[in-house]
Amino acid sequence: MRVLVIGSTGQLGSDVVRAFSGGDVVGLDHKTIDIEIPSSITDALNHYRPDFVVNAAAFHNVELCESRPDRAFAVNALAVDDLAAQCALAKIHLVHVSTDYVFDGRATTPYDESAPVGPLSVYAISKVAGEQLLQRHGGAWTIVRTSGLYGVRGSRTKGYTFIERILTQAAEGRPLHVVNDITFSPSYTRHVAEGIRRIVESGAGGIFHVTNSGHCTWYEFAREIIRQSGVDAELHETTSERFPTVARRPAFSALGHGALARAGLGTMPAWQEGIRDYLSERSAAAPAFG
Ligand SMILES: NC(=O)c1ccc[n+]([C@@H]2O[C@H](COP(=O)([O-])OP(=O)(O)OC[C@H]3O[C@@H](n4cnc5c(N)ncnc54)[C@H](OP(=O)(O)O)[C@@H]3O)[C@@H](O)[C@H]2O)c1
Repeated sequence: MRVLVIGSTGQLGSDVVRAFSGGDVVGLDHKTIDIEIPSSITDALNHYRPDFVVNAAAFHNVELCESRPDRAFAVNALAVDDLAAQCALAKIHLVHVSTDYVFDGRATTPYDESAPVGPLSVYAISKVAGEQLLQRHGGAWTIVRTSGLYGVRGSRTKGYTFIERILTQAAEGRPLHVVNDITFSPSYTRHVAEGIRRIVESGAGGIFHVTNSGHCTWYEFAREIIRQSGVDAELHETTSERFPTVARRPAFSALGHGALARAGLGTMPAWQEGIRDYLSERSAAAPAFG
């Protein structure tokens, strides 16, 4: 079984490549494949002839998407449509990564995979469009929705992960003001990548939510990061009014894991374990952080 990972230098894509490292996996970076260019997809599929494609590429700077809907739709919707068409033709199973932001945030308990979507931002609308377009080609597909990603590699688009921001600010002795009115499931990319590997190996199709288990606010996330890392920090809770944004975001976007359970694919580690494993991977890679 050969797996081809698109977006392989991203924070999630790199851990997906690593999750399959005992098997036949090929990771392609943006220089090697550009999903906006149909011939680039064709060349890669013809050359590598994979059984599964995992698409971890996206245009996901949520604020920038508001002023560049053309870019958001080009990468998150139209390119995904084309990728799905080509995968269907070549009988390749497409596993596409999507987001908790497809939901409107009015829920008070974790969203099931079957819950209706209600995107609030251009980014979220473009991801919903990608989810829907990829289903129209008659091929095998799986959508993996995830949330609040952080990995040791970090995201080039977003810069530092939230954990690094907290640790850096704490080390500089600057007080931290973190919002306590947005609830989500922060997720460590290695754990999400392991979940994706289990789904791929099972061959299951449909929609799966793959995040760390449980949920917390950003303030609770910061408090747990500080507790586990043992740093001294002055942490204050605040509300999102303090940090106005152009894009609207769901106030509650925790994802339930019903599909994983129904498919017998096990459970996901708790979000606190995500922080623990991130911090231990981070200290093993300490020279990279100076
Ligand atoms: N980050 C989050 O908190 C979060 C939350 C929920 C869902 N997600 C979803 O999770 C997935 C992975 O996110 P991530 O945080 O790992 O992103 P990331 O670190 O920014 O990685 C994205 C990767 O895709 C590549 N890429 C971008 N445009 C491409 C294109 N047109 N063709 C081929 N490759 C392209 C990027 O390469 P370059 O950097 O070289 O351009 C990068 O390697 C995305 O689908 C995102 O929507 C993310």
